[in-house]
Amino acid sequence: YPIFAQQGYENPREATGRIVCANCHLAKKPVDIEVPQSVLPDTVFEAVVKIPYDTQIKQVLANGKKGALNVGAVLILPEGFQLAPPDRIPPEIKERIGNLYFQSYSPDKKNILVVGPVPGKKYSEIVFPLLSPDPSANKEAHFLKYPIYVGGNRGRGQIYPDGSRSNDTVYNASATGKVNKIIRKEKGGYEITIDNASDGRQVIDIVPPGPELIISEGESIKVDQPLTNNPNVGGFGQGDAEVVLQDPLRVQGLLLFFASVILAQISLVLKKKQFEKVQLAEMNF
Ligand code: HEM
Repeated sequence: YPIFAQQGYENPREATGRIVCANCHLAKKPVDIEVPQSVLPDTVFEAVVKIPYDTQIKQVLANGKKGALNVGAVLILPEGFQLAPPDRIPPEIKERIGNLYFQSYSPDKKNILVVGPVPGKKYSEIVFPLLSPDPSANKEAHFLKYPIYVGGNRGRGQIYPDGSRSNDTVYNASATGKVNKIIRKEKGGYEITIDNASDGRQVIDIVPPGPELIISEGESIKVDQPLTNNPNVGGFGQGDAEVVLQDPLRVQGLLLFFASVILAQISLVLKKKQFEKVQLAEMNF
């Protein structure tokens, strides 16, 4: 969950560029982000984050049953950019946002937004309403090209903040030896007794409800060999995009320059026409 990242990491993007969700959401799956090529200062615009997956598939839930996947995302904006205030979001963008609630990553990081978990069936495409900064009011903002980073996730994580594994991951043998006994527990899950080959003692590996066993009684196994399949069908992905904070004066200047070029061209043509008339008048036959 994004809250796990908010509690565990001051900055969701590590120095290597890796977004911290990947520390617990181990599988890699694609994400996509769309933003305008450029935005004017103090303007509301939208970033569309796509977290595609097959919405028909189900995942293992915490209780071992199967259920639908949820999605969530983190959006890392340049300094000065932030969530658009509700009263400035135009109705057509509002409609496409749906009932999503965006949160800033922490009180002093208004430029980092998180959302989720929300049902993936409805929100595999998430529209973030954003507000660009105004460099004339905010000294930290400049008319430059900026990167935007995004992380998007579907499905449950494999590791809890305390380091323990969830039931949405592979379970491995903790010793080399022979599988002596497999007990299927009442509430699901297994207790696997392994005769340790090196010291003859027995070790018990517990598999929670969820993953399916791929070993059987009597089988010889090696330490760290998988005892179960990997039930994880979700995954996390990250990407980036670029946006130009455009100075309206530059656009006006460019238009003015175009106008002056057109005027100059027309004047030159008119001058040529005039000169042709003089040439005609001066011709004596
Ligand atoms: C569950 C997103 C960071 C561990 C989820 C879910 C979402 C999500 C959407 C619900 C999935 C579902 O129900 O189908 C994110 C995002 C993160 C992030 C966007 C980064 C901003 C983390 C971190 C950890 C973590 C850092 C580990 C410390 C988990 C676990 C679950 C989970 C264990 C399953 C919880 C359960 O059902 O028991 N996450 N997550 N996540 N996340 Fe994350």
